[in-house]
Parts: sequence; structure tokens; C-alpha cells
Amino acid sequence: MQIASVVPSSRFLERRIVKTAKVAEAKTIVELGPGTGGTTRAILAAMKPDAKLLTVEINPLFHQLVSQINDDRLMTHLGNAAELKDILEKRGLPAPDVVISGIPFSTLDHKLGTKIIEVISSVLVYGGRFVAYQARNRVADLCEPVMGCCNDKKLELLNIPPMRVYCWSKNGFKKRGTTQ
Ligand SMILES: C[S@@+](CC[C@H](N)C(=O)[O-])C[C@H]1O[C@@H](n2cnc3c(N)ncnc32)[C@H](O)[C@@H]1O
Repeated sequence: MQIASVVPSSRFLERRIVKTAKVAEAKTIVELGPGTGGTTRAILAAMKPDAKLLTVEINPLFHQLVSQINDDRLMTHLGNAAELKDILEKRGLPAPDVVISGIPFSTLDHKLGTKIIEVISSVLVYGGRFVAYQARNRVADLCEPVMGCCNDKKLELLNIPPMRVYCWSKNGFKKRGTTQ
């Protein structure tokens, strides 16, 4: 239920996530649910030399795997994404430019899913981006009341299973039926 996937993300999906999130332009990046760390490595490969990446993983085994990545720009945290605000504060990190999430919102309890979306929305810098890659549409249903309709949605077919990559921009959060 927490992992929702038996196959790590493909190179094609990793590339799409990095591009959609504009990782190369970001200073502070958060990755929720890094799993075995393939996406983490792809993010690090695209990041600026002075950027920082914080991962938040709830599974101790995955957290341990990601913590073995040797990169001074990487900070890893074992815990729940719902605590992101406190985690950033305790580590003295600024508002992130980008939050990337692989957390399977489709299998999460509705209350927890909404709490995670609310905290992401509150911590992002103005103009920041929230990118979620998901097999199902539930993340959009959870996000809409908080962030409005997504600004971008693409389907990556070269992944098992095919994955939707959603993006919300904080200054572009728009409610259904509005033009801005
Ligand atoms: C689909 S897997 C990640 C896949 C990986 N990033 C990749 O692309 O190969 C989802 C991950 O989210 C983690 N996760 C689930 N709920 C979480 C939560 N509330 N907080 C942090 N991590 C969570 C799971 O343990 C799992 O590692």
C-alpha cells in the first residue's frame, strides 16, 4: 500500500520528472518517497552544484539505501511526508523551489493524502512547483481543492506501469472554472 510499485521508475520517467520539475533551475528540492533511489540519482545528476536535495522516506530499508548515495548536496530523512514543514524547519532549510513526489496517493488514506498535499502547498516558495508521478488520477482529486487544477499533465508510456506526471505551480494554482 505504501510502495504501490514493484518496478523502479524507468530512465524515461526519471528524465520526464527532472524536466517537468525544472530541477536544473532549483536551489532547494524535496523528494518525497525516493524508494530505492533511482529518481534521487537522476535529480542529483541534473541539479546545480550548489543546490540541496532533501529526501523524506517512510520505509527504513529504502531510507538506508538512499542514505548510501555519496553526495554532499543530499540530505536524507526517515519519516512521514506529512511532517515536511517540521523537517524543513529542524534542518534550517528554506522554502523549497520544487517538491517531487512518488508517494502513491491512490492507496493512501484520504485524510493523510490531503494533509500531505496541504503541507506541500504551504511550504513551497511562491512560484515553486509540485511534481507528482502517479499511475492513477487520485492525486489530482486530492490536489484540486487545495492547489486547483494542475498546470501540466503528461503520460509517460515508457514505464511499467505507464505513469502520469502532474505539475502544479504555486503562483499558477487555479480553481476549476476560473481563467487564472
Ligand atoms: C512508488 S515508490 C517510489 C518509487 C521511486 N521514487 C522510483 O521512482 O523508483 C513510493 C515510495 O513512497 C514511500 N512512501 C509512502 N508513503 C510515504 C509517506 N507518507 N511519507 C514518505 N514516504 C512515503 C514508499 O515507502 C515508497 O518508497
